[in-house]
Amino acid sequence: MSQPVPNGSESESAPSARLLPGGPVAERILADVAERVAALTRRGVTPSLATVLVGDDDASAGYIRIKQRQAAELGFASPHEHLPASATQADLHAVITAFNDDPAVHGLLVQHPVPKHLDYDRALQVMDPDKDVDGMHPLNIGRLALELPGPLPCTPAGIEALLAFHDIPVSGREVVVLGRGATLGRPLSILLAQKRPTANAAVTVVHTGVADWPRYTLRADVLVAAAGVPGIVQPEHVKPGAVVIGGGVRYEGRRLLPDVDESCARVAGAITPRVGGVGPTTVAMLFRNAITAAERATGPLAGEGPR
Ligand SMILES: NC(=O)c1ccc[n+]([C@@H]2O[C@H](COP(=O)([O-])OP(=O)(O)OC[C@H]3O[C@@H](n4cnc5c(N)ncnc54)[C@H](OP(=O)(O)O)[C@@H]3O)[C@@H](O)[C@H]2O)c1
Repeated sequence: MSQPVPNGSESESAPSARLLPGGPVAERILADVAERVAALTRRGVTPSLATVLVGDDDASAGYIRIKQRQAAELGFASPHEHLPASATQADLHAVITAFNDDPAVHGLLVQHPVPKHLDYDRALQVMDPDKDVDGMHPLNIGRLALELPGPLPCTPAGIEALLAFHDIPVSGREVVVLGRGATLGRPLSILLAQKRPTANAAVTVVHTGVADWPRYTLRADVLVAAAGVPGIVQPEHVKPGAVVIGGGVRYEGRRLLPDVDESCARVAGAITPRVGGVGPTTVAMLFRNAITAAERATGPLAGEGPR
């Protein structure tokens, strides 16, 4: 399942970390989603994930295409609204409201980021929380904090699944998250501290307010980079043998710049690959949220309990 990182130009004797690809994790999640899609389809319901794109950002359009292709492969309908870059906040809210009110639409996402003159957070609050497949609506973050059922934020949930898939226990161990952003660091810290066999960790969150953050990362059994600062995590920040998860990335055009410098593989015991680590699990979790939303909206079969 996991392979060692090639030594490359580094010393031949340098230890190399086990790789933790996200692809096989995503495949397993998506196989389950596909079965659940088939079950709903047999009941005459086509699950539907609607997408909204505002403006002409190439990267955002690319992400939407990937999600639509995946939706089609899984058997989801994927109605789409593309608003011009000049769209107003009211235009965006109108599109979201129309999808909220459409009973044939079970899941909904607004591609982030939206043009600067629009307020993504306000738009998110207009969305029906039960259709929020990103798991980022304030009500869903509240559900996460209170351990109530609801869609989980995709990247944090994907990281928990990735660790579990690769048999990396976090229960009782020290996890340090570098970054407290709303998308990744903050919800991940809540998730991994919850009382569950695949979580239950001692979680510490560090950020720009903790100038000596390497003091914390150096004692982490599992270090998650969630800063969005290319190369911020270097080998000297990693405890030998620790697990390093690269969540934070920045794009310069099409070039992906990860938080975790590749040389960390010399020190880490296991590490996500530069490409194909956390990303595929994020997309898989989106579809898991979407099929769960479709099942909830459709209701249980006679004799079935709630999921
Ligand atoms: N792989 C994926 O599928 C995926 C999905 C979603 C997001 N992401 C990535 O995850 C990253 C985090 O996203 P986000 O929206 O949660 O984050 P965000 O809101 O951009 O926050 C970044 C966090 O990193 C901290 N930080 C930045 N520079 C730092 C420094 N020099 N030293 C210490 N801490 C520093 C910030 O600290 P302060 O709070 O003190 O400012 C902040 O808490 C981004 O790179 C994003 O692209 C990846």
